[in-house]
Amino acid sequence: MKFFIDTANIDQIKEAQDLGVLDGVTTNPSLMAKEGISGYDNVMAHYKAICDIVDGDVSAEVIATDFEGMVKEGENLAALHPQIVVKVPITKEGIKAIKYFSSKGIRTNCTLIFSAGQALLAAKAGATYVSPFIGRLDDISTNGMNLIAEIRLIFDNYGFETQILAASVRHTMHIMQCAHFAADVMTGPLSAIEGLLKHPLTDSGLAQFLADHAKANK
Ligand code: E4P
Repeated sequence: MKFFIDTANIDQIKEAQDLGVLDGVTTNPSLMAKEGISGYDNVMAHYKAICDIVDGDVSAEVIATDFEGMVKEGENLAALHPQIVVKVPITKEGIKAIKYFSSKGIRTNCTLIFSAGQALLAAKAGATYVSPFIGRLDDISTNGMNLIAEIRLIFDNYGFETQILAASVRHTMHIMQCAHFAADVMTGPLSAIEGLLKHPLTDSGLAQFLADHAKANK
């Protein structure tokens, strides 16, 4: 399973990259706004800076909601850097844009997926990734992981090459469940990735090893 970090924060992206397990980055307009990035030139420069840090795909979302606008924005984003994947919402116009991008060899991430039907449509249109938002489903008392399992089954039934990018991952157990249900990629915060490191027996075991070593080497 590939590990993407879901942030536009440069320091966190660098920290995750330094860990050596990062495969890509996802951003969205809210995450860009959180970092105070606004205006066309600044936004493009920020995406470029992220691509320069990471070895892997960087999802950059279109703001336009009409087909022509999505195509124009997406083509500009794709031309910025070969690592850019154009993120497009699952709407009628979005599906048309994904089909267009796919025919031009531009890679896409179809976002805001909350049902298997939406994922099926995006895969048929040729999306490179679909992003089911598991955390936001959990937020409304709906098991987000069931959606990953359902999409996995459908994609495997028909051999779709579209990758399942489990998004809205909030914590470490979400990552483990994504691996269990064979998501191709998960995108989450650095804290959730670092949570995989933690075990009290590791801490106490290491402390014991170091204490024994110190005693023997007095
Ligand atoms: C997906 O690509 C989104 O950026 C993201 O995962 C949404 O997560 P949230 O529900 O925690 O905002």
